[in-house]
Amino acid sequence: MQTFEKEFAAYCNTKHCIGLANGLDALILALRAFNFPKGAEVIVPSNTYIATILSIVHNDLKPILVEPDITTYNIDSKKIEEKITSKTAAIMVVHLYGKMCEMDSINAVAKKHNLKVIEDCAQAHGATYKNVKAGNWGNFGAFSFYPTKNLGAIADAGAMTTNNDALADTIKTLRNYGSKIKYYNELVGYNSRLDEVQAAFLSIKLKHLNKINEHKRKLAGLYLQYLKSDFVKPIVHADYYDVYHIFNIRHKKRNELKDYLLKNDIKTDIHYPLAPNKQKAMIGILDNQDTPIAEEIHQTTLSLPISFYHTEQDILRVIEVMNKF
Ligand SMILES: Cc1ncc(COP(=O)(O)O)c(C=O)c1O
Repeated sequence: MQTFEKEFAAYCNTKHCIGLANGLDALILALRAFNFPKGAEVIVPSNTYIATILSIVHNDLKPILVEPDITTYNIDSKKIEEKITSKTAAIMVVHLYGKMCEMDSINAVAKKHNLKVIEDCAQAHGATYKNVKAGNWGNFGAFSFYPTKNLGAIADAGAMTTNNDALADTIKTLRNYGSKIKYYNELVGYNSRLDEVQAAFLSIKLKHLNKINEHKRKLAGLYLQYLKSDFVKPIVHADYYDVYHIFNIRHKKRNELKDYLLKNDIKTDIHYPLAPNKQKAMIGILDNQDTPIAEEIHQTTLSLPISFYHTEQDILRVIEVMNKF
């Protein structure tokens, strides 16, 4: 496990990487490390995958939703400050679909209000903003290596990155029953160690991550260039190196489009069909937090085929079929 930890820290340019059991645990432990008072508020994008919000709830903290920018699908940094109260403890950003958030303005707000920043990097292995990789910008970067991720293991796996020695030490203790010395427990810890088999596999796959990301970027480039303008495509900006964990488009007739593609043997997915505040599990937790922009995204987004195993010909066929819709 230590070999992979060193390699992934070197890849991310962070001082530390701590291997963990999965991405959700990484998010939970990141918040747990700060011992925030019960009921403290954590700012989180309203259109994230539920795991980000669950990590807040599992720490007895309150998720405060901030709407995304409809063009980047990432938290709208201009809308964060209006949600900050005397109870706000942290901002949890999510580099959704493989595009990083606008970290310099987010960190400026965090600094002004003395807030911790946690990056959910589950979809952004190797993505950069202003040439600095995901996992470097906050107090912690939480990674998932779930098999479908750009850097995926063969089963559940995760990790945390940090540039802070004391925080790295706390995470190492928390993942191991709260123990630094065998059978002596100083924190109320967890069992969240990275499985050795996954670590060995990840060590091998990490050598190919740049190639995987580049391949996905090449396929994304085809979609961006050749898909007709009826489809709202992701934006591209020189400050960002996007790794396209997901390549999504938006369309008013999303469900019809999905069915049409399936009839043509093209399987697509939706990330995600239901906004977090509409989930049954969130009744009583996210009540009265309206999120029209997130809902608009959830109703119109469609994730197109894009993986290391897809060829340029595969994608050109998808484009040809889509352009006839
Ligand atoms: C944005 C985001 N955060 C957190 C997670 C949770 O990671 P894991 O499935 O490894 O627990 C995921 C996984 O799909 C995710 O996409």
